[in-house]
Amino acid sequence: MATILVQDVSKHYGNHQVLDNFSLRIEHGECFTLLGPSGCGKTVLLRLIAGFETPDAGTIRIGDAVVSQADKGIHLPPEQRGLGVVFQDYAVWPHLSVFDNVAYPLKLAGLPRQTIQDRAMESITLVNMAGLEKRLPSELSGGQQQRVALARALVAKPALLLLDEPLSNLDANLREEMRFEIKELQHKLNVTVLYVTHDQEIALALSDRLAILDENGGLRQTGSPVEIFEQPADLFVFNFMGVANLLPVRNEGGICLVGSQPLPAAENACPPGANKLAGFRPTDVCIDHEAPAGSPCLSGKVRRSSFLGPVMDYLVDLDGHSLRVSVDTHEALDRNRMFKEGDACALSFHNLHWFDAPADNVSAGGGSRGAGS
Ligand SMILES: Nc1ncnc2c1ncn2[C@@H]1O[C@H](COP(=O)(O)OP(=O)(O)OP(=O)(O)O)[C@@H](O)[C@H]1O
Ligand SMILES: [Mg+2]
Repeated sequence: MATILVQDVSKHYGNHQVLDNFSLRIEHGECFTLLGPSGCGKTVLLRLIAGFETPDAGTIRIGDAVVSQADKGIHLPPEQRGLGVVFQDYAVWPHLSVFDNVAYPLKLAGLPRQTIQDRAMESITLVNMAGLEKRLPSELSGGQQQRVALARALVAKPALLLLDEPLSNLDANLREEMRFEIKELQHKLNVTVLYVTHDQEIALALSDRLAILDENGGLRQTGSPVEIFEQPADLFVFNFMGVANLLPVRNEGGICLVGSQPLPAAENACPPGANKLAGFRPTDVCIDHEAPAGSPCLSGKVRRSSFLGPVMDYLVDLDGHSLRVSVDTHEALDRNRMFKEGDACALSFHNLHWFDAPADNVSAGGGSRGAGS
């Protein structure tokens, strides 16, 4: 069993408290992603779990074993934790062939020559590199080098695979391909995968569950990709998970207003006297040239119109607030939803997420964040 249990773990460097009483549980066999902005402590947490760093406080368990416990001075070295690790830089040895790179951990463990041969080739085949085992890393593409690192991490048959931004050096197509391969490998081998990234798309595509960390190393939410995207716990998570439109809404005498315009059917979410932010994605806007009969809309003006192939991307001004609006190109063509700069438009919104307005965003002119460009 490769459950990972992180309990009340703290870690500081100098006067920088990177993690403070951090707790997390990752279940056996799941692909779990740590997602957060650069510098939030993802790599530090991974290194603590791997055993390359020691926590100041707290306990880390892998399966039944306590691998780190600060107050008892317990600290198992990485090689005794039963895990494979792949870091962001390929970390393959340039002077060793593919085979020797992959076989290295087995040689270190002193296994018999034939076992090393069989296991290394099995691992090389697993990552689709059979036939290239005599090559040096300099004779491989970035994606192939990353496969070698993956094969080496898997060769000792770990129950737990720790991956730190392993795809960030690859181009977009290769990244997508490798993403599917990692998922396939996880299912095939039934390993627990802990994946670290600041790339939302990878995290959503790959994970069974993910954890969102804020810039201070605080844990904001854990959940399935759909839960995180559809039910963000707070404004930080909503902002972090994609382009975020935010409109300040206030309830004056029972009517909810955005600037001077009424926002229909918002009274339950924004009761009298309240100041809220209504959040929605660019795809959650209905944009027309005129309000459809019987559908109350808000008026805006298109500031920028961009054709992005499959979608039309509009930047719209609504009473001084910038909104991003995305419309499927075919729908835009078929339903008269093509706009050019300067066009007036009628807007309505669905799938609104409601947040308490932070103090600096309460005024009617506060503007939306994340959608400006
Ligand atoms: N050995 C170290 N000594 C001093 N500070 C460190 C050390 N390792 C990490 N830090 C600091 O801890 C913080 C978290 O670093 P970490 O590498 O975990 O970030 P990250 O979330 O992995 O970011 P990125 O997405 O850019 O990789 C950073 O402010 C970093 O400067
Ligand atoms: Mg990192």
